[in-house]
Amino acid sequence: MTTLFRNIRILAGIDRGIGDQPLRGSDLAKMTVIENAWLLVEDKVIAGFGPMDTAPAGIPEKDVVDATGRLVIPAWCDSHTHLVFAESREHEFIDKLKGLTYAEIAAKGGGILNSAAKLNAMSEDELFRLAWIRLQEAAKSGTAAIEIKSGYGLTVEGELKMLRVIRRLREKSRLTIKATFLGAHAYPAAFKQDHEGYLRMIEEEMLPVIATDHLAEYIDVFCEAGFFSLEETERVCRAGMANGLKPKIHANQLSHMGAVELGVALGAVSVDHLESMDEAAIQSLVNAGTIGTLLPSAAFFLRMPFQPARQLIDAGAAIALASDFNPGSSPSSNMNLVVAMACIQMKMLPEEAINAATLNGAAAMELASDHGSIKPGKIASIIMTRPVPSLAYLPYAFGSNHIEKVMVAGEFV
Ligand code: NIG
Ligand code: FE
Repeated sequence: MTTLFRNIRILAGIDRGIGDQPLRGSDLAKMTVIENAWLLVEDKVIAGFGPMDTAPAGIPEKDVVDATGRLVIPAWCDSHTHLVFAESREHEFIDKLKGLTYAEIAAKGGGILNSAAKLNAMSEDELFRLAWIRLQEAAKSGTAAIEIKSGYGLTVEGELKMLRVIRRLREKSRLTIKATFLGAHAYPAAFKQDHEGYLRMIEEEMLPVIATDHLAEYIDVFCEAGFFSLEETERVCRAGMANGLKPKIHANQLSHMGAVELGVALGAVSVDHLESMDEAAIQSLVNAGTIGTLLPSAAFFLRMPFQPARQLIDAGAAIALASDFNPGSSPSSNMNLVVAMACIQMKMLPEEAINAATLNGAAAMELASDHGSIKPGKIASIIMTRPVPSLAYLPYAFGSNHIEKVMVAGEFV
């Protein structure tokens, strides 16, 4: 299948040949663009692009999309989601608005443990059906590559069920999907006083099956007071690594416990959240191979301070933006909103936010060699906007849908 986009007002996010490395420092703001451009897609890949006076001739009209007044940018690469879950938690949201405490909400049926109870009671087919609908919504909002975590099972069967659902999504969908094992999301009630017992269940009963059946690429741990200590986080990450999984850590969300520094020391692909950063944590990411993934919609929803994006960028850290889509702290998969929040609340420039949500998001899933930018040979996953005046208009006019078409791997969704 061939598609020629012509008269593109601005073609943005053109790869400047940095390979699969994330952009950092002042490079994050650099965005190569062509005004009045063409872009050719053949089968699943970008075949070429250039200024309109060099457009290829002879493409049948039925395969041509006129993009006059429109922008074309790479599709979003959302590197942190919990898209597989059983039920939404808006009742808990209302309780929080009314001032109920965490303990009161947990007692009434909120929190991770209650999501786990619902998930364990749901059939694999029903979980898949619901996750599939959410994945289509994410794709319609411009996401073409996505990482999805387990972590609402917290039992051997529940965790494996989630990972099998992610595998089915990957098999059926055109989106590129990476799977992360987050068995260390919370201690199940039965193991509240027996951390050793649950850690051994992860090490001896979950990880060997996940490794044998190739059910995940990454291992994640929620390193936080009341969840997994720094020592427990290191232990679970090392167990994952021994089974061929690379770490991606939930770090420094509510408190700074050294999880960012641990992730860097372990060679984690990313450390994610980063609402609670001190100078040592920021410095540890400078020139590190580990990407700092910022989740502004989780900070927004929980009324937390936003992540220190400017300090991280200016210090030279590589950062990505992701949605953290989950029923408890970020019930939205909309990366357009994430990009707008990053600009409005974290003072990222539009170019920085778009690069962080595309190429650097791809790098945080080890996909940057074929996703996240406009480059011949890369997967043709792109967003064509409605007629808009400029790139900056996208985050500026937040809350409106600026997307006219989304192409995922060469096909419109
Ligand atoms: O990334 N921080 C931990 N986990 C999720 C929220 C989990 C939940 O409340 O269901 C997060 O924010
Ligand atoms: Fe998360």
